[in-house]
Amino acid sequence: MRSLYCGEVNESHVGQEVTLCGWVNRRRDLGAVIFLDLRDREGIVQVVYDPDFPDVLEKANTLRNEFCVQVKGKVRARPDGQVNKDMATGAIEVLGLELTILNKSAPLPLDSNQKNSEEQRLKYRYLDLRRPEMTERMRFRAKVTSAVRSSLESQGFLDIETPILTAATPEGARDYLVPSRTHKGQFFALPQSPQLFKQLLMMSGMERYYQIVKCFRDEDLRADRQPEFTQIDIETSFMSSDQVMEVTETMIRSLFQELLNVDLGEFPRMPYSEAMTRFGSDKPDLRNPLEIVDVADILKDVEFKVFSGPANDEKGRVAVICVPGGAAKFSRKGIDELTKFVGIYGAKGMPWLKVNDINAGLEGLQSPILKFLTEDAVKTLLARTNAKTGDIIFFGSDTYNVVTESLGALRLKIGEDLELLQGEWKPLWVVDFPMFEEVDGHMHAIHHPFTAPTNLTATELEANPVGALSDAYDMVLNGCELGGGSVRIHNQDMQAAVFRILGISDEEAQEKFGFLLEALQYGAPPHAGLAFGLDRLVMLMTGASSIRDVMAFPKTTTAACPLTNAPGHANPAQLKELGIACLEKESDTDEKAE
Ligand code: AMO
Repeated sequence: MRSLYCGEVNESHVGQEVTLCGWVNRRRDLGAVIFLDLRDREGIVQVVYDPDFPDVLEKANTLRNEFCVQVKGKVRARPDGQVNKDMATGAIEVLGLELTILNKSAPLPLDSNQKNSEEQRLKYRYLDLRRPEMTERMRFRAKVTSAVRSSLESQGFLDIETPILTAATPEGARDYLVPSRTHKGQFFALPQSPQLFKQLLMMSGMERYYQIVKCFRDEDLRADRQPEFTQIDIETSFMSSDQVMEVTETMIRSLFQELLNVDLGEFPRMPYSEAMTRFGSDKPDLRNPLEIVDVADILKDVEFKVFSGPANDEKGRVAVICVPGGAAKFSRKGIDELTKFVGIYGAKGMPWLKVNDINAGLEGLQSPILKFLTEDAVKTLLARTNAKTGDIIFFGSDTYNVVTESLGALRLKIGEDLELLQGEWKPLWVVDFPMFEEVDGHMHAIHHPFTAPTNLTATELEANPVGALSDAYDMVLNGCELGGGSVRIHNQDMQAAVFRILGISDEEAQEKFGFLLEALQYGAPPHAGLAFGLDRLVMLMTGASSIRDVMAFPKTTTAACPLTNAPGHANPAQLKELGIACLEKESDTDEKAE
C-alpha cells in the first residue's frame, strides 16, 4: 500500500510520486491550503493540499487527528524560508494528489499535549506507543536484541528455548503458579529464571547457550523491577569466571559502541566488601564522588556513647560522609529532613559537623556534638576526610548494617539532590561476594544455591560457611545491577553441602532438585554463566527512568494490566475443571456478614 515510509522521504525524491500510509499527526487549515503532518513508524512528513486539486482538498478538510490514511502525492522542495531544520524531512513536502481514508479515529482518550497518568497510558498502551518517543524506544530495544544475538552467535552461542511451565526455581522471589488440569491440586511454577535448565544444557554438552527469555517473579515492584521481565541468559562450559566476564563485557561494550557510539572502556573490578565499605551498596554508582569513610578508630575513646558504643562493638560501624561545599547547602531544616531520610534505614539520628573555616581550629567548626569530641579526634577526622572550608560531614554510628545502608542511601540522595554526578557512564564488576548471609539465624545464598565457592572444598565450606566467598560477579552500570552470574557447582558433594548449609534437608533437596543432583553424577562439565536484565539495559541506554517505559505492555506497580484487566476472575467451570475452590475475598465476606 505504500512506496516508502513518511520519515524516509527526502530531497532525492523531489519530482517523484510517492504513496504513503500513516496517521494524521496534525492538520492545519490555512483556509485555501491544508497542511497535514503525516506520521508513521519512521517519522513525520508534511503533506500539502492546495486549491489546484479541489476534490482532494475537500476530502482533506474532513480529516481529524489520528485518522489512518493513504496519501498519493508528488515530492517537492519546500520554498525558501519554509525549510524546517528541526524536522528530518523538513527540506521537502508532498503535494497531495489523492487521499484515501483507511479508517477514521474517535478523539483519543490520551492527550498528546499533556502528561497522561501512567494508569491511563497503560490502559491505552497501543495509543501511547504511537508517540514517537515510545516508538523510538521499541525500535531501539529491537536493535539491542538483534545486536545481542549477532554478538553471541558470532561467538558460537546457541539459542535454545527452555520451558515456561516448570517447577520452582529458587531465585529468591515468590513464584507465579499455574494450576494443572491433568494433575488436579498440582501446580507448575513459571520460571524465575532458566537457571536449572541452562545448567542441564551444559550437562547435555551444548557448551554455549543463550536465550532472550521471559522470567517471572512475584516481588515488590520498583522502577527497575517488573513481575514479568526479560533476561539475556547465558551459560558456558569449560570457562572460568574471568572468561565469562570477558565474553559478556565484550558484548556490552560492543552494544554501546555500535548503538550509542560510546566507548565504555575496561570495567574495573571491585570486591563486594570494598563496595559496601566505600559506597554502602553492592551496586555502587561510581558517577557519584561521595564516599563513606570509616572513623571508628578515631572515635572509640571519646566519651560520647553514641560514637564510642558502636566503635567498640565488633558488629558496629562508625563512619562519615564529607560533602564538599555542603555547609551552605544544608540549613537546620535540610539537615532535619536528611535525618528523617536516614531514619527509614534504621538510623536513630545523624550528627553533623560544618567546616566553616578549616584554618581556625575548633573555632572554625560548627556542630551540636563538637563538645563531646577531643581536639585530636577532630583533627584526625578532618584530615582523613580531606575536609575543606565549606564542607559538611554527616555521621553514622550504629550496627554495621544500619550505618552502611543509611549512609549508602544518603550518598545517593545527596549526590542526586546536589547534582554531583560526574561522567556519563561508569561500569564495573562487583566480585568476591560472600557465599551466604545469615538472617535471623538462617543461612541464605547471596546469589543462588548453585553458585560455587572460590577455592574451597565441600568440607572447608561446611567448616566456615560465613567466611566463604563465592565465584560470582555482578555487572553494574551507573548504580544499576545490569546482570549477575557465577561459576556453578558441578559436583554432587559440593551441591549437597550447600543445601545442608542452607538448611535444605536431604529429602527436600531430593524432592525439589533431585533431577539436578542426579544429573551431576553423569560427567557434568565445569560451567559458569550470567544473566542480564534486558529491560534494565535498554532503560539505561535510552535514558528512560523506568523499565516500564521500554516494555511494550508492562504491568502497573501493583502487578496488574489496565489494558486487559488481568489478573481477572476465572469462571466457575474452569475452576471446577482445575479442582480449585477460591476463598471469598474478605471484603465479600464482610459485605455478606453485614
Ligand atoms: P538475577 O536474579 O541476579 O540472576 O537476575 C539477573 C538480572 O535480571 C534482572 N532482573 C530483573 N529485571 C527486571 N525486573 C525484575 N523483577 C528483575 N529481577 C532480576 C537484573 C538482574 O541482574 N539465574 C541468575 C543468573 C545466573 O546466575 O546466570 C539470575 O536470574 O538485571
